[in-house]
Amino acid sequence: MTTYQYYRQAIADETLPVALVDMDMFDANLKALLAQAGDKPLRIAAKSVRCPALLRHALDSDPRCQGLMCFHAREACALAEQGFDDLLVAYPTVQAADIRAVCAAVRDGHRILLMVDCAAHVEALARVARDEQVTLPLCLDVDMSWHLPGLNFGVYRSPVREVEQALVVYRAIEASGCLRLEGVMGYEAQIAGVGDAVPGQGLKNRVVRWLKRGAIPRLQQRRAAVVQALRDAGAPLVLVNGGGTGSLDSTRHDPSVTEVTAGSGLFAPTLFDHYVRYRYAPAAMFALEVARQPDAGRVTCLGGGYIASGSASPPKAPLPVLPPGLSLEPNEGAGEVQTPLRGHALRDQDLPGIGEPVFFRHAKAGELCERFNTLLLIRDGQIEARGPTYRGLGWQFI
Ligand SMILES: Cc1ncc(COP(=O)(O)O)c(C=O)c1O
Repeated sequence: MTTYQYYRQAIADETLPVALVDMDMFDANLKALLAQAGDKPLRIAAKSVRCPALLRHALDSDPRCQGLMCFHAREACALAEQGFDDLLVAYPTVQAADIRAVCAAVRDGHRILLMVDCAAHVEALARVARDEQVTLPLCLDVDMSWHLPGLNFGVYRSPVREVEQALVVYRAIEASGCLRLEGVMGYEAQIAGVGDAVPGQGLKNRVVRWLKRGAIPRLQQRRAAVVQALRDAGAPLVLVNGGGTGSLDSTRHDPSVTEVTAGSGLFAPTLFDHYVRYRYAPAAMFALEVARQPDAGRVTCLGGGYIASGSASPPKAPLPVLPPGLSLEPNEGAGEVQTPLRGHALRDQDLPGIGEPVFFRHAKAGELCERFNTLLLIRDGQIEARGPTYRGLGWQFI
């Protein structure tokens, strides 16, 4: 079903380049994520989708999909305006205008939780909330890294590691009189987002798996201890969030967690191909036109340099997938305006001709949407709908 001809046919009348989502795969991925989440509700990571129509589709697909995780306060306001509710903003901001916009949305009855991890966040939010005469619900971000001598197995996010540090932030929230701590989030990014079965990295895979096994019980203990201490201190917690696509099967077993988050598994970009315990279907792709043929055995596409963010490395480049047998030119990679491909596994007559599409997968999920205004939503070989992306809606938050 997922052959070159299948997708080529589906987009035959479109002007290239296009981005597309195979909805049969998207739905299968959502089912698989829900299965991995066990009995926990699943919050959808909006950042990893960045297309309101798809977010709505996911939320409407199953009652266990509850709420969205946002990366920006203004994103939460924009989604609230589109009718979404239960919005957890996972990244702190202290921009007064953005906090004011959230206050207005909260006053209008929308549920938006903002993230904090230090007194400076609390002070900035309190200043605006007091001024706006609104009580803002907050979530505390707890660091889930495993700090080893010479290695931080995790990411640099929150400075809150110990129970006492969490209580200090909680007391500041309580003292403000206009903020309420309703959530705790502990995102184990190094479990959720680091592949542990990457081809050609046998030793590194073994080390990563060993580190994951060591980190999981430690960080779950930390998250549970913080949650217990905050509850004992009187915090009215209604949610404890954890996890991401690559950690659901461990996060779901943490009894202190009330909900898990995932998003990337819906699109299944290439960085999520290599996990021991997961396999999702490659639902999202983009298609470029072959614009020239520099020599026998090579074609060159127009555009394509959609490199994923994070530490710069070859796996962040897009991967040509259809027709099979094409690969990037190592010296040129995916270029700003053109991307040459080697057809070493194809006979010359099987190379796509001028004007024909080549399909690529992006390394990350939502970032693909920063390159396209619209996602073509394909089901049963047809374009079922067109979903404007954040970019297509003119949304730019960071
Ligand atoms: C704090 C946080 N938790 C969870 C997730 C979900 O991650 P993923 O998209 O890999 O499922 C993300 C990513 O968007 C995130 O930023």
